[in-house]
Amino acid sequence: MMKIGTPGSATATKALLLGSGELGKEVAISLQRYGVEVIAVDRYAHAPAMQVAHRSHVVDMTDAAAVKALIAAEKPDLVVPEIEAIATAALAEIEAAGEVKIVPNARAIQLTMNREGIRQLAAEQLGLPTSDYAFAETYAQLKAAVDGGIGYPCFIKPTMSSSGKGQSMVKGPEQLQAAWDYAKAAGRADTGKVIVEAKIEFDFEITLLTVRAMDAGGQVQTCFCEPIGHVQVNGDYRESWQPQPMSEKAIQLSQQIAAKVTEALGGLGLFGVELFVRGDQVWFSEVSPRPHDTGMVTMVSQIQSEFDLHARAILGLPVNTALDKTGASAVILGGVDAKAVIYQGLSQALAVADSEIRLFGKPEAFVARRMGVALATAGSVRDARTKAVTAAAMINIVEAG
Ligand SMILES: Nc1ncnc2c1ncn2[C@@H]1O[C@H](COP(=O)(O)OP(=O)(O)O)[C@@H](O)[C@H]1O
Ligand SMILES: [Mg+2]
Repeated sequence: MMKIGTPGSATATKALLLGSGELGKEVAISLQRYGVEVIAVDRYAHAPAMQVAHRSHVVDMTDAAAVKALIAAEKPDLVVPEIEAIATAALAEIEAAGEVKIVPNARAIQLTMNREGIRQLAAEQLGLPTSDYAFAETYAQLKAAVDGGIGYPCFIKPTMSSSGKGQSMVKGPEQLQAAWDYAKAAGRADTGKVIVEAKIEFDFEITLLTVRAMDAGGQVQTCFCEPIGHVQVNGDYRESWQPQPMSEKAIQLSQQIAAKVTEALGGLGLFGVELFVRGDQVWFSEVSPRPHDTGMVTMVSQIQSEFDLHARAILGLPVNTALDKTGASAVILGGVDAKAVIYQGLSQALAVADSEIRLFGKPEAFVARRMGVALATAGSVRDARTKAVTAAAMINIVEAG
């Protein structure tokens, strides 16, 4: 395991979080419980993780020189990326210099930030089942790929994007141009490419949280959480629950796929493996080399949340992925565009039996920005979802002043 020192002293074990959203906030809390000094970084001030970190920096994380300068100044033991939009070439250089550990490793961060990198690894190198797909740099190439076999309905996505940004489902040829234009305009860093994927007609989709952690003998072992089912609207998650019931065959296939892809990525930590399931069939969709938004449910459903699991794994500590109770989460969206907001209805929300609310404390609200999450446990998935959705609906976000 990693040596743990005293925060604020020369012996401190330091973790630098690149990205300070709601997931980073929980990782910061989990790390601090083991005595780690946490430095939070994001492109704006007062981001959620900054509010609980030992200190913070406002930095453009896509600026390689700025990332390198910050790491040189802070000299962290661990760099823990929370988001995809990072100058990953800088991370590779820093890793090669050997002083700082990138979680889980620079190559995994680089491959998963780009849909092209992870698709080629999963589908071509590892031979995992995925949707049919193609990459296109021009509209003509896109049209040719769709007409040449991918067909309709299909999904068009920028190769670099997350949370559904720039993504659309295309039902027929008349919608293709608009989807192309949207993907080109909304992609994070213009790689000049989009991916087109045939639509998988799944019964449900899951996130299989997969942990690579040290066992008692000092070997890396792979552990799985119970599958998390979720609902996505426009590529962004709205509700999740755990466990998602599925066939024995499908869970075995899911674990095999997750083991293969996380082993190929390597390093220590928690991964969110996204899979589509129909009957006994399973398709790989994508993977996050870090805690997953749909995994927020584990704050109430597991003994060790996905954030605890990530913290323990990256410190070289043992993990326990066991389910504690059936649980659900429901997202609380801003509903308004406002600089500062007030949260009403917290006492009504918490009066829902077995519920919890997390307010992220974001300094600005947008209509579709995730501002909080409701969590609940119950004897069944159906009841847990009802409680979480009911509690979420009690929170009313209004412009301050
Ligand atoms: N090929 C596909 N077939 C069916 N549904 C899809 C497909 N691609 C994406 N989706 C839907 O859109 C959601 C978001 O897509 P995803 O590739 O995970 O984007 P992001 O990186 O923004 O999370 C998925 O969780 C799923 O609900
Ligand atoms: Mg996704």
